[in-house]
Amino acid sequence: MRRPYVAGNWKMHGTVREAAELAGGLAAQIGQIDNIDVALCPPYTALSTVSEAIRGSRLRLGAQDLHWEKSGAFTGEVSAGMLVDAGCHCVIIGHSERRQFFGETEESVNRKLKSAVAAGLEAIVCVGETLVEREGGSTLGVVERQLAGGLEGAGCDLLTIAYEPVWAIGTGKVASPEQAQEVHGFIRAWLGRRYGAAAGGIRILYGGSVKPDNIVSLSAQPDIDGALVGGASLKVDSFSDIVRGSLKRI
Ligand code: 13P
Repeated sequence: MRRPYVAGNWKMHGTVREAAELAGGLAAQIGQIDNIDVALCPPYTALSTVSEAIRGSRLRLGAQDLHWEKSGAFTGEVSAGMLVDAGCHCVIIGHSERRQFFGETEESVNRKLKSAVAAGLEAIVCVGETLVEREGGSTLGVVERQLAGGLEGAGCDLLTIAYEPVWAIGTGKVASPEQAQEVHGFIRAWLGRRYGAAAGGIRILYGGSVKPDNIVSLSAQPDIDGALVGGASLKVDSFSDIVRGSLKRI
């Protein structure tokens, strides 16, 4: 049985003080909830503060990206070891915004995944198609290409997949539970061919306009194991409701 998993991707939002308030509020509301894994992924500047704010709770700290090298002359970058040092438990890799705006490729996703896992970080690898790709009928092909390239030569320990259709991110256009399940089922089958029985334990999160009012029907789908939440993770009440809503099916 897969434990539900909800991660909040705060993206480039908030001051250190706001992060402390949000994390403190979440620790108070959902910090002791059992039967689910919950991660908060603030900007780098707030990692230490959020780590402090969630100490003693069951909430986990995550980062939004990393560099694959351990250290060196890579101005602006942060390594897996640095994230572990800052208290991180997990890291998002290959988010569509990184692919779209910062030149992330399957190859860089793959390097980042291997580096994260080698450092003991749980990796949330994001895949998903654009609207043009969906309308052109290539959704599953795109997802397959991203999986094949991103996971090449990597094991499935510490691996979580997030399916985030680009057209649903920040648009209010959530994928229907059936649309999401179709791709999640495809991902599960692909992972099964790749990793055998172990694929049954890999969590696949849905991301894209997840809100308190759609999480229950999404998480009722057999291959949706939780959510990667953007906008609605920035408010204590909405994120707490999403976390509680994703528990419904167990
Ligand atoms: P929204 O929930 O704001 O659509 O963002 C989803 C996302 O990109 C999470 O990584």
